[in-house]
Amino acid sequence: MAMGQERFHDPVLVAEVIAFLVRRPGIYIDGTLGGGGHSLAMLHALREAGYLQRSLLIGIDQDDDALRQAGGRLAGFATSSVLVKGNFQDIEGIINRVCRDKGVDPLVAGILLDLGVSSFQIDTAERGFSYLRDGALDMRMDGDASLTAGEIVNTWEERELARLFYRYGEEPRSRSIARAIVAHRQAYGSVNGTQELAAIIRDNAYGGEKVIKTLSRVFQALRIEVNGELDVLIRAIDGGINCLDGHGRMAVISYHSLEDRIVKKAFAEKAKSDWGPKGVGLREPLVTGDITLITRKPLGATPEEIELNSRSRSAKLRVIEKLPLRSLL
Ligand SMILES: C[S@@+](CC[C@H](N)C(=O)[O-])C[C@H]1O[C@@H](n2cnc3c(N)ncnc32)[C@H](O)[C@@H]1O
Repeated sequence: MAMGQERFHDPVLVAEVIAFLVRRPGIYIDGTLGGGGHSLAMLHALREAGYLQRSLLIGIDQDDDALRQAGGRLAGFATSSVLVKGNFQDIEGIINRVCRDKGVDPLVAGILLDLGVSSFQIDTAERGFSYLRDGALDMRMDGDASLTAGEIVNTWEERELARLFYRYGEEPRSRSIARAIVAHRQAYGSVNGTQELAAIIRDNAYGGEKVIKTLSRVFQALRIEVNGELDVLIRAIDGGINCLDGHGRMAVISYHSLEDRIVKKAFAEKAKSDWGPKGVGLREPLVTGDITLITRKPLGATPEEIELNSRSRSAKLRVIEKLPLRSLL
């Protein structure tokens, strides 16, 4: 890499996200700004369609590095974008605050959540996200948060560790790995760094290719716990849908089954209508759902995209549309 040149995260499913979300002028939210790849594509699409003057993009990330990177990339769109440090679980409050400051109604045309961590975060060894790199057991996306992976690994009881690896990593060797971590602590005082943890996991995983899966699953479980990822996702979906204008859309890209299950369930619940007691045979529901599902099944990346960007292999995109409030008259 040449001096002064930054490597950016390659955004996934960009064309699909743009086609589903950018359909009119309005307020657009990128709740996971990262390196700004999706935001930049949304702003370009708004400009090409002639919507940019009447649009605003609000980019949110809890990571200072991401905000710095994206800020540089989006500098050419400074009058059409606002970047905010925050957690997407507070999406409603952030939207209301920015819109109040800008003097516009907080009615949102499109929201994107591209979950997980960026390649930039994974590649930064000292952040501790990767079992391939030597770093501290940190894993905080928000450097101001207090819980780190090191605290979990070095203070939690064996039973709690096993439960965590099973629940958030769906790891079949959860108990043996938890036992080995506690034994390591007893022998050496603590587990220091990603490579020491990775060695313990390797020694206690099933052999062959399964080692890599076990490493990914245990690191994933720690990352989810450190960042409270699943709880904040539920809140972001709720809050985001509240802010959508009639026909406004939300797109969520998830990368593992735990996330996708949450998105699928949350969307299905919001889409459900109440048809009253069984057997009554109403013509119309008593209460209609708040949203409609635009993608009934999640959309994945094309083989061409997977070839170019291996990270897109596990991506699943789900999109919903908010139904306009029906007049009671
Ligand atoms: C997969 S990356 C997004 C990449 C981005 N779409 C792009 O094109 O560069 C996910 C980003 O979301 C951020 N993030 C994850 N969970 C978050 C949360 N709860 N609140 C705010 N930002 C979050 C991470 O810090 C990371 O920068």
